[in-house]
Amino acid sequence: MRIPIIAGNWKMHKTISEAIEAGREIEQVVQSSDVEVVICPPFTALSALSALGLTKVKLGAQNMCAEVAGAYTGEVSVLMLRDTGCQYVVVGHSERRELYGETDELVNQKALLALEHGLHPIICVGETLAQRKAGETERLVIGQIERAFTGINKAQVHEVVVAYEPVWAIGTGETASAEDANAVIVTIRQTIAKLYGDDVASEIRIQYGGSVKPANARELMKQSDIDGALVGGASLQAEDFGAIVNYK
Ligand code: PGA
Repeated sequence: MRIPIIAGNWKMHKTISEAIEAGREIEQVVQSSDVEVVICPPFTALSALSALGLTKVKLGAQNMCAEVAGAYTGEVSVLMLRDTGCQYVVVGHSERRELYGETDELVNQKALLALEHGLHPIICVGETLAQRKAGETERLVIGQIERAFTGINKAQVHEVVVAYEPVWAIGTGETASAEDANAVIVTIRQTIAKLYGDDVASEIRIQYGGSVKPANARELMKQSDIDGALVGGASLQAEDFGAIVNYK
């Protein structure tokens, strides 16, 4: 039984006081939900949110350094994230890949380091519009998964969450149809089955991300293999995010 996980990625939005206000509001609106709820604020708001002691809302970071410590100006390490009390970390978001040149290899290093230090990585994969039009979606996503999971052992896989986020659907208002999203997610699960076996693949949670909103959450969540959502824009308002979490 896979418990759905719905995560809000606030990206570079919200000061500490705004984050506290939104965190409190979200805690209220998701009270009766049985899905796992995570918010990923900017680094600067993690400790303050953690200090609120929210019970229905877990915390995640949006990124981390692939090194544990050292001369890496501007980076934030896994130990510092652990220190804030967060439990998840998004790795390989398409904005990190596109704007900051993150490769599959770097994403893999980050995922391994997160696992080694007890954080759950949310590994993002997904194709661009050009890749989709060229019919390359499956091949690309399979390759991204294989490289991201290199060195992750069988016992660690259930600690990982995968987010399938077609790049063309992020922040554009365009959503993959629920069936198309599910089809790619089935391919991801089959890839994990090839690497680790069917039992492991049937346990891992795979989210869809890309313009998830209250109006489409239910349709997406009712698909056979979609186990949650990674929500950007619609996670900034507690009312919208709550409506997504309460999709049933
Ligand atoms: P969006 O972003 O919901 O605003 O499309 C999703 C994401 O980037 O995770």
